[in-house]
Amino acid sequence: MKKINFIIPKCSKEKIIKIIECFDNISYRFLNENVKFEIFSDKLEQDIFFLNNLCKDISYTLEKVEKKNWIKEIKKNDITTETALFIFHQGFRKISTTKNKIIIPASSAFGTGSHESTILIIKSIEKIIKKTKFNLPLDIGTGTGILSFILNIKLKKKIYATDISLDSKNNFQQNKKINKLNNLIFIKSYGMNNIILKKKKFDLIVANLLLNEHKRVIGNICKNIKKKGFYFISGILDTQINYFIVLLRGLNLRLYDSMKLNGWVCLVFIKY
Ligand SMILES: C[S@@+](CC[C@H](N)C(=O)[O-])C[C@H]1O[C@@H](n2cnc3c(N)ncnc32)[C@H](O)[C@@H]1O
Repeated sequence: MKKINFIIPKCSKEKIIKIIECFDNISYRFLNENVKFEIFSDKLEQDIFFLNNLCKDISYTLEKVEKKNWIKEIKKNDITTETALFIFHQGFRKISTTKNKIIIPASSAFGTGSHESTILIIKSIEKIIKKTKFNLPLDIGTGTGILSFILNIKLKKKIYATDISLDSKNNFQQNKKINKLNNLIFIKSYGMNNIILKKKKFDLIVANLLLNEHKRVIGNICKNIKKKGFYFISGILDTQINYFIVLLRGLNLRLYDSMKLNGWVCLVFIKY
């Protein structure tokens, strides 16, 4: 596998959106006035051809990707992430704190709490649950289960969680046990595409997905949000904010709150 590295000025919004939409195996970071991209490729010639067609003037470098057992590498450092109410770690060392501790061992599912999109949505949830009560929450794209767990601990309600991936399903059940949590229901489902979920009206839906996935599931999600219910959208970039505001206005939701970190954004909408 090879890695294609390149940098694009932050102001080239259309190019940035096109690139993110077209490649799945991609990571990007904001660096001052630029966005640094890395595309991981097994079909190098094809991907470079495609990239050149999308943006004619890109100058890129190639890097061989070392074969490593990434899970083993991550396990070496028990990195801790902290928010106002929680500490997330892998459980390899004792941590003394008055905050709620959540153990998420490294795995192939996403959601250890270290990524900006996860931190932002957790901080946004912490802020809103201070003043609003919720009875029926749903976590779409649960990964390791991290968002369902914090909702379960703080709201003390039954939490519905979905994911398309079997890895997530296994990981979710394992993490639920490790953290001694109950009253969490995992449903393997593509967005709301499940008979049990379709019948319910949720007063809180959280979804940390990439732009394209949000676009695919957003219409059905909005149908299942109660009036005055909240919808948290994370995993998107600050260049994509207006897209969501306009789209959701058409679906009877208005922007209620937002939080930003290193170019990533979490948007909180309320249904009217
Ligand atoms: C970025 S991870 C978020 C994990 C975790 N919720 C967090 O906040 O860290 C996105 C997760 O959504 C899942 N996913 C992607 N598209 C989905 C869809 N249409 N319906 C349900 N799950 C989806 C992926 O399998 C992945 O586990």
